[in-house]
Amino acid sequence: MDTYIGIDLGTSGAKLLLVDGAGKILASVTENYPVSYPKSGWSEQDPRDWYAGAVRGVRRLLAGQDASAVRGIGAGGQMHGLVALDREGEVIRPAILWNDGRTQAQTDFLNGEVGREKLSACTGNIAFAGFTAPKILWLRENEPENFVRIARIMLPKDYLAYRFCGVHCTDYSDASGTLLLDVKNRCWSEEMCSICGVRPEWLPVLHESYAPVGRLLPAVAAELGLDEDVLVCAGAGDNAAAAVGTGTVEEGDCNISLGTSGTVFIAQDAFSVDKANALHSFCHANGRFHRMGCILSAASCNAWWSDNILRTRDYNTEQAGADALRGKNDVFFLPYLMGERSPHNDVNARGAFIGMRPDTSRVQMTLAVAEGVAFALKDCTDIAAQDAPLRRTRICGGGARSALWRQVVADVLNMPVESPAAEEGPAYGGAMLAMVACERYDSVSAAVRALVRVRSVTQPDPAAAEAYRGKYETFKKLYPALKGVFAQW
Ligand code: XUL
Repeated sequence: MDTYIGIDLGTSGAKLLLVDGAGKILASVTENYPVSYPKSGWSEQDPRDWYAGAVRGVRRLLAGQDASAVRGIGAGGQMHGLVALDREGEVIRPAILWNDGRTQAQTDFLNGEVGREKLSACTGNIAFAGFTAPKILWLRENEPENFVRIARIMLPKDYLAYRFCGVHCTDYSDASGTLLLDVKNRCWSEEMCSICGVRPEWLPVLHESYAPVGRLLPAVAAELGLDEDVLVCAGAGDNAAAAVGTGTVEEGDCNISLGTSGTVFIAQDAFSVDKANALHSFCHANGRFHRMGCILSAASCNAWWSDNILRTRDYNTEQAGADALRGKNDVFFLPYLMGERSPHNDVNARGAFIGMRPDTSRVQMTLAVAEGVAFALKDCTDIAAQDAPLRRTRICGGGARSALWRQVVADVLNMPVESPAAEEGPAYGGAMLAMVACERYDSVSAAVRALVRVRSVTQPDPAAAEAYRGKYETFKKLYPALKGVFAQW
């Protein structure tokens, strides 16, 4: 049977899946690459590491498999990262990532001097420090010697297509996070480009996520061990790809991703914005739209707490005993390790444990980390619910593998949380987009109907949900109380 490669180009590494046309996962590999934090709040990666990781990953993925059956490749990639290439196609400087907080001044300029109303009218969004446009302004102001060398800009997963096929293109879902796209009309905003000093020839060609954009260059096909006629599709931002992979494509469907970031993703047929532009209004990978809240640290809070502080990766043992404490924990955790995007838009925010006593236990703090992430997600779902109630959600990402985290999310949001059979959201979605590009399925919805199944549902526990309702009121007071202190650091 024909097979397809899905790539999740994440922040800690690339996850690759080999999937057959009936949706069965035949092989899965992960390739890690470094992130550098050259200054406090900065976060960078070398795009060449992504490519090298993807090449290593494809070769490992195909070991023992029939490489001649592979028809297509689709990637979901970390969003917003600024990849800048010179005239020769060489990387000018490390990519500035989605969770980099160096652009407060440029974000303030865009929201303040250009004005939120104008940004919203041009793009459907306001500026957040992680978006691409403030990064371009930062480069112009701080590294003029690099800025003058720019010949092309693109987003992280577009760099893979560029190296695979020699094409300079992107898709609408990922382009939405640049703040250069007129999301409603699915075209680049000339006005925003001119504000940011972006020349039209720097911009990638726009495609729907499921559109084929090229075939493998002969040398690349040889390096990967694939046929030259393998088709590469435009792919999507990782959240839109995850939404495809979890079947979040019909009006009002919701998906929560618990990766390095945490996102609440709501599929919509038509474009819309909330009053304060608190959520992102972006294009979806199915030709329609979505709204999204993004918290910058989610499962990464567990990685920080367990791996770095407690020095264990045995999360099951660490979380044992936490279940009995759900709703009864009086320790709070603010998950703002990298500042916060939605809804606070504050690069200075920081993580905090609050409420410890002499008898506070390690397991209470472990539980507080999961609860803090769930409360931060509730900040986003509450905004979305002002327009239409959310009744249930799908869940994916590393954090979703923990039964404790799934239960805490179900309790705090007080809604059923559905785990899809294929839990690799963006990589599975990437493979599905490749299937649509190769005409295995007529549309993204048809692929979802054929391939996505729910494996289990976590129901909210009424007693814990009631207790968390009160605790969330306390949580909501903590960031405003600390905001002034964060600003002084
Ligand atoms: C979304 C966002 C993150 C990254 C993570 O706006 O910034 O979810 O896409 O890879």
